[in-house]
Amino acid sequence: MNRLDGKTAVITGGGSGIGLAAARRFVGEGAFVFLFGRRPEALEAAVAELGAERAVAVPGSVTEAGDLDRLYAEVKARRGTLDVVVANAGTGEIVPLGEITPEHYDRTFDVNVKGLIFTVQKALPLMGEGGSIVLTGSTTGEMGTPAFSIYSASKAAVRNLARSWALDLKGSGIRVNVLSPGPTLTDLALDVVGKEAFEALGAGTPIGRLGDPAEVAAAAAFLASADASFMTGGEVFVDGGLAQV
Ligand SMILES: NC(=O)c1ccc[n+]([C@@H]2O[C@H](COP(=O)([O-])OP(=O)(O)OC[C@H]3O[C@@H](n4cnc5c(N)ncnc54)[C@H](OP(=O)(O)O)[C@@H]3O)[C@@H](O)[C@H]2O)c1
Repeated sequence: MNRLDGKTAVITGGGSGIGLAAARRFVGEGAFVFLFGRRPEALEAAVAELGAERAVAVPGSVTEAGDLDRLYAEVKARRGTLDVVVANAGTGEIVPLGEITPEHYDRTFDVNVKGLIFTVQKALPLMGEGGSIVLTGSTTGEMGTPAFSIYSASKAAVRNLARSWALDLKGSGIRVNVLSPGPTLTDLALDVVGKEAFEALGAGTPIGRLGDPAEVAAAAAFLASADASFMTGGEVFVDGGLAQV
């Protein structure tokens, strides 16, 4: 399939996990990708794998307005316009109620909500008819999860941003949807939850295992492509059924 032939995409958190899997899938379907994240070495390794004629690394943080401005200046200089934004950079920490600090709240919401908002808003001047914005949500935005309330609330906020932005974008030809993974085997998840507990979570889903980032990336490519042309303001779950039953 070459559903993304000639398309230009920005993927935040594109140097690892779900973002890197999306980059592989997008390039495989014909796109040119800009990979954004804080670790230059992870981004450079991804570009080396994907090929410099198909991928560019732009190091920076979604929490820094100047870094996002630099990202989109580079997109404009190299490609002129932008078709797809995958606002995927995210972070989380296990902190139970009673131990929540202002710093924990800020660390989570600064990346997952504020960073995502400006990732999208700053992209808009480069986007037009046929554009697609994919926001990485989470099953946790739909469910209660012990000791994970701030992360979960940040993902619930992402869900509403897509609903409201679908209305703000009416008439622009740009669609916005949330892609919500369930437990997916990535560094973030292993660091936050721990291997044993995370595997147990996967085993508890109706499908009975953890997800592979490539399975989430397949849905990202669908939402990015014209195959999803009548979808906006919506949410696609790739969660082994976790939040569906
Ligand atoms: N894995 C799961 O089970 C799961 C389930 C539901 C939702 N999600 C969501 O999926 C998304 C991707 O996570 P993942 O599981 O693939 O883990 P991951 O490999 O750790 O990916 C997180 C990415 O976000 C980037 N990032 C973090 N803070 C950033 C910042 N301030 N500025 C720019 N980039 C930043 C990281 O790159 P740098 O460290 O280089 O900045 C990293 O590439 C996240 O939004 C996460 O909440 C994951």
